[in-house]
Amino acid sequence: MFRIIKSVPKCLFGKGSFNQLGDLLEEKRINDDSCFVFLVDDCFKNKPIEKKIPLKRADYIIWVNVDNEPKTFVVDSIRDQIKNSKEGIPAAVIGIGGGSILDYAKAVSVMLTNNGSSSLYQGLNLAKNQGVYHIGIPTLSGTGAEVSMTAVLTGPEKKLGIKGEFTPFDLIVLDPELIYDAPKNQRFYTGMDSYIHNVESLNGIYKNCISESYAIQSQALCREVFLNDNITREEADEKLMVSSYFGGLSIGHSEVGVCHALSYGLSYVLDFHHGIANCIAFNQLEDIYGPAVRDFHTMVEKHKIDIPFGISKGLTLEQFEKMAITAFGLDHMWRHAFGLDWAKHVSKEKIIDWYKRM
Ligand SMILES: [Fe+2]
Repeated sequence: MFRIIKSVPKCLFGKGSFNQLGDLLEEKRINDDSCFVFLVDDCFKNKPIEKKIPLKRADYIIWVNVDNEPKTFVVDSIRDQIKNSKEGIPAAVIGIGGGSILDYAKAVSVMLTNNGSSSLYQGLNLAKNQGVYHIGIPTLSGTGAEVSMTAVLTGPEKKLGIKGEFTPFDLIVLDPELIYDAPKNQRFYTGMDSYIHNVESLNGIYKNCISESYAIQSQALCREVFLNDNITREEADEKLMVSSYFGGLSIGHSEVGVCHALSYGLSYVLDFHHGIANCIAFNQLEDIYGPAVRDFHTMVEKHKIDIPFGISKGLTLEQFEKMAITAFGLDHMWRHAFGLDWAKHVSKEKIIDWYKRM
């Protein structure tokens, strides 16, 4: 079967492009009463970026805490807050932040026009109505959330995205200036998400010429950012942003693999953020992704990054079991990595062995 991939129709790219946002928004204002809601990472409160957000008329900011991975109950509560406000449904929702904020913005946009809890929509094409116009503005690069068809959410029963044709952003603003101040470790963990997307995309049965072409270029940019000594920070930020974009497009046409399956289990049970969970898992996957993992070790050393190790010490059998069930359930990732008969190669016991190495 061939899949139709919907990508983001409009992309504004370039250093300083964020300053154009105000003009772009005015074109979207339906009437004098319509407003825009900005979902912004609360780490930017009282920071320079707050002053640059072009608020006019009744527009307002909802500060969102992303210490934990995005949750369905948080999506529901933001949706209710917006619906119950005197402004009502906005003309647009704008997410400003890392992957978690972008996923919240995508999910809230869909949930403003679809009834019930967002946990009912975790899966493929479950939303019936088109969401509110939404714009994604990343302040961290690597997740590919700016371009993906999925808003990844943890619900009461599972970590699974709201995926479908209404999820992707209508417009993204990629301004490399916005990632300049990202903390070093966080920048690395998130950047490695892109690196890992490419490795996984290239190693599996669902790859095709499009996914391969994006992955190869994305990988080249990522390697320049993290392995080239002569690159300026400005050049690196621009390349990292494009690497994230291409990496996201690549997995859209292909699939992630072993690292992401294991990483989902880590996030679901231990609430690790996606980027760091990927690094913890990828660090131990030399048996699967060989040279790419050795290059990853080189990047970790070069940038003096701490990758948590020994996280499985002290975990209960129940926790291991729950992580393994979460990972094992992501059959599309295993199928991509090991082929149609993947279940001959992967078992819950094998998955627990991987977790015990971390
Ligand atoms: Fe990822």
